[in-house]
Amino acid sequence: MIIKTAEFIISNTDPNKAPTTGLPEFAFIGRSNVGKSSLINMLVNRKNLAKTSSTPGKTQTINHFVINNSWYVVDLPGYGYASVNKTARQAWPVMIENYIKNRETLQNTFVLIDSRLEPQANDLDFVNWIGKTQIPFSLVFTKIDKISKGAVNKTAEAWGEKLKKTWDELPPVFFTSAEKKTGREELLGYIEDILKK
Ligand code: GTP
Ligand code: MG
Repeated sequence: MIIKTAEFIISNTDPNKAPTTGLPEFAFIGRSNVGKSSLINMLVNRKNLAKTSSTPGKTQTINHFVINNSWYVVDLPGYGYASVNKTARQAWPVMIENYIKNRETLQNTFVLIDSRLEPQANDLDFVNWIGKTQIPFSLVFTKIDKISKGAVNKTAEAWGEKLKKTWDELPPVFFTSAEKKTGREELLGYIEDILKK
């Protein structure tokens, strides 16, 4: 898919204030600092469209960006980081849950996982929760430039083992590096296929 335009639309904490144009959308979620905003910038070829930071907890709102005037990318706050104040931390899961459960135009949620870590409890909780909602999702292993191919595969296999305990079917899996632009064509191709349906 060729990205011609990418524009910021709105940032808010109330899912009801999200755009009402009815355009299809794709959300990016995962632990704080996993690389959601960086991945979005890499996908749409814009350095600073979504704000990134080396300090976890940068994105604290639901951010809509319109791509090619025809679909949205949604950058969500991270979960599972302790150093942000307690109120904000507690609001995230509720905000995220409400958004994911009620957003009728949501086509797919990309759940980002740090490829360097063995399966973490809060990631597993989130994946098991979203699996139960029956909302389509995929797993995206991020920052693969930071470790060897073998180590990335080990993480993916560990995830497969964990999920097999609960689920008959495993979600689609992607491997990305925002740094090296790895996985861009695969993710955009996947989005394009869904948009064509
Ligand atoms: P929050 O908004 O705080 O939840 O974080 P986020 O998930 O949006 O992460 P963000 O994109 O802000 O990236 C966090 C840090 O990881 C930044 O310092 C990025 O430069 C770095 N980073 C993100 N993706 C990659 C990657 O693929 N490779 C490398 N080496 N670093 C990355
Ligand atoms: Mg972010």
